[in-house]
Amino acid sequence: MKPQSQFFDDLVRQGIDLPIFQAPMAGGATTPALIGAVAQTGAFGALAGAALSPNDLTAQVAQIRTVTSKPFSINLFVLPDETTASPVEVEGAWAKFRLQRKAVGLADDLAPPLRFAEQFSSQFDALVAVRPFAASFTFGILSVERMRRLKDAGIYVIGTATHVEEALAWEQLGADAICAQGFEAGGHRGTFLVPSSSLLSLDVPMSIETSQRLAATGLFALLPLIVDTVKIPIIAAGGIMDGRGIAAARVLGARAAQLGTVFLTTQESGVSPTWKKALLAATPHETTLTRVFSGRYARGLRNTFITERENDEPSIPSYPIQNALTAGLRKQAALVADPQNLSLWAGQGVGLLKNRISEPRVVDLISALLDEYHQARVLG
Ligand SMILES: Cc1cc2nc3c(=O)[nH]c(=O)nc-3n(C[C@H](O)[C@H](O)[C@H](O)COP(=O)(O)O)c2cc1C
Repeated sequence: MKPQSQFFDDLVRQGIDLPIFQAPMAGGATTPALIGAVAQTGAFGALAGAALSPNDLTAQVAQIRTVTSKPFSINLFVLPDETTASPVEVEGAWAKFRLQRKAVGLADDLAPPLRFAEQFSSQFDALVAVRPFAASFTFGILSVERMRRLKDAGIYVIGTATHVEEALAWEQLGADAICAQGFEAGGHRGTFLVPSSSLLSLDVPMSIETSQRLAATGLFALLPLIVDTVKIPIIAAGGIMDGRGIAAARVLGARAAQLGTVFLTTQESGVSPTWKKALLAATPHETTLTRVFSGRYARGLRNTFITERENDEPSIPSYPIQNALTAGLRKQAALVADPQNLSLWAGQGVGLLKNRISEPRVVDLISALLDEYHQARVLG
């Protein structure tokens, strides 16, 4: 039995009493309308802040607060403030997908972007200033000083873990909860620590990119491993598409389930119609892990861009460089409705989307999830 959690007790006190977390999803899905609608049902919404400038982050939070007075969280990618890349590296990577740029109608003489990502420290300052109920983080772990700033501001902290050592690191730092991200999950792997191994020689350290691919534990195995190791509450993520999945996660010890892919095709989701259409048409086995779009391993539907560029993987620059280089291509592909040059992030459960009406409202989706959840608990 886990001890009481102040984080969950406070959530319930403030009207978030469902065991359902909507995943933060960078790339346009988590609109203020989506998060507001989620919160109004009593589930926990999350704003994906990683791709937002500090001003946009502040503006979106203000918009959410016009829709709901209930709590929500903000998510950021923990990245170094400066990313440098040599012109040779940038030009080399840029040249590799000239044909794809042409295919979506971008100019042949287009120059690569000079800036690769928003500055993490400025995003972090903006997050602290708007004081969300909770802040969640992936791709890395916070410094002790930043953790203290969040605690001083009364903001609860959720860390993402893809293996037990990452969960322990967040617990030792003082996180209030951990999101256990199984290998099934859509979008980027959160892996930030190379998992230790008694078999691999320490003389040849594994790269963090390799670890993102090799920290490959599915949620059914990962969840009890983490639940048995740390004392703080666990939120389960990866491949959960319906109420049965939420019930299963709870049986395995999670306090709540975090669902991403299933929210992508709701009316309030901001992803492009082309992406939604591809998700609804996907067969159950179509997802793959790739770093061709962003430089960090992420799970999405296989398309032509992945298949054509897969052989480049060893030489592709790390996140956020490759992510910035392909951003224009992906944006344009969405505009011209070309699913073959778009990153179609999705979890392994994507085939289950067909069981739902194609673009439900958030309120209908959550009501269906709850019915399924209660049904599964009766049967279980
Ligand atoms: C389109 C998309 C974007 C995502 N972006 C983020 C993000 O910005 N931050 C984050 O912590 N996780 C992100 N994730 C991962 C989710 O938090 C979660 O682990 C995942 O959605 C769970 O798997 P599921 O999609 O199968 O439900 C993203 C997932 C998807 C599908």
